[in-house]
Amino acid sequence: MSQLDSDPFEHLPTSDDDLLRVSGLKKHFPIHGGILNREVDRVRAVDGVDFTIPRGKTFGLVGESGCGKTTIGKTLLRLHEPTGGDLSAKEFKPIKRDMQIVFQDPSSSLNPRRKVKDIVSEPLVVHGWGTGEERRERVDELLDSVGMPVQHKHKHPNQLSGGQKQRVGIARAIALNPQFLVLDEPTSSLDVSVQARIVHLLEELQEEIGLTYLFISHDLSLINNVADIVGVMYLGRIVEMGKTEDIFRNPQHPYTRALLSAIKPLNDRDRELIPDTLLAKGEIPDPRDQPGGCAFRTRCPKAFEPCDGDEPNLYETGDDEHAARCYLLDEEHRPDGPPW
Ligand SMILES: Nc1ncnc2c1ncn2[C@@H]1O[C@H](COP(=O)(O)OP(=O)(O)OP(=O)(O)O)[C@@H](O)[C@H]1O
Ligand SMILES: [Mg+2]
Repeated sequence: MSQLDSDPFEHLPTSDDDLLRVSGLKKHFPIHGGILNREVDRVRAVDGVDFTIPRGKTFGLVGESGCGKTTIGKTLLRLHEPTGGDLSAKEFKPIKRDMQIVFQDPSSSLNPRRKVKDIVSEPLVVHGWGTGEERRERVDELLDSVGMPVQHKHKHPNQLSGGQKQRVGIARAIALNPQFLVLDEPTSSLDVSVQARIVHLLEELQEEIGLTYLFISHDLSLINNVADIVGVMYLGRIVEMGKTEDIFRNPQHPYTRALLSAIKPLNDRDRELIPDTLLAKGEIPDPRDQPGGCAFRTRCPKAFEPCDGDEPNLYETGDDEHAARCYLLDEEHRPDGPPW
């Protein structure tokens, strides 16, 4: 097992402004095979990721399906053990209570056999919070704060709409007054109008309770609306990171540019107008069989010879706290000629 250079769970604030600091986070899934069922291969789902989330802010994580977004969220919450690096369960427990997750599909994340009131009070029961009477009051208060009529507490999930189910999922997530929520595609299973209302609710809660969010989505327009900082992921790594406005106004990595150029629903004629220099070629590689050097080079319209050497570092772009993992930003490697 490969070891981490440093503990990825430096959860405790390093300054009053940062709630979470992650460094060198890795999660590899072994693949077993053969008659001895040995590890024959591994999926490097998350492969050395660093980021910091300031208290009360939203970090938006974007990237194509399979790039490792959910794995980051689950590993932070210890639903997956990270590959290397450790913290004892005892140390982690109080922190764990402070971190909760809201899943994409409320239908599968809520137990269909339980009533809303039992679903929402479950974390309270698990953590021995309050008396029965106090828990009942807390459930009413929570349903009210997520905009659910309190009388719905006697219903089962299948008697609720998609938006209402997600409100229940959010009520459950905030039951223990966490500081940090992982929101894993929290609106992507919902109708567009309902999506907007759930996003609004999340923003209100953030303001009222001072929550910090890791907001995972493949929808860049949504991320542009909700995030303060954006990390763009490709094959287990963050390839570009910066303030939201800088990422959208001044994207630097060819992958970010490709994602952004595909942002609007285009008809076929409009699509033909996108220059080839902006588009990613082909399909995302099998994560078990990643290209060496820059992992994006096999699809990159700008790839040139240093890209199949060492993996590029994160280079500063000139904007404050904006960096991209691309040799085009490296003075030493950058080709002469017209602006790329
Ligand atoms: N429990 C697991 N065992 C083995 N491989 C896994 C496991 N969970 C995820 N993976 C693999 O890790 C990679 C990253 O998966 P992950 O679910 O984190 O991607 P994602 O960015 O959340 O994708 P999506 O946008 O589709 O939700 C994928 O190749 C996936 O197949
Ligand atoms: Mg996912």
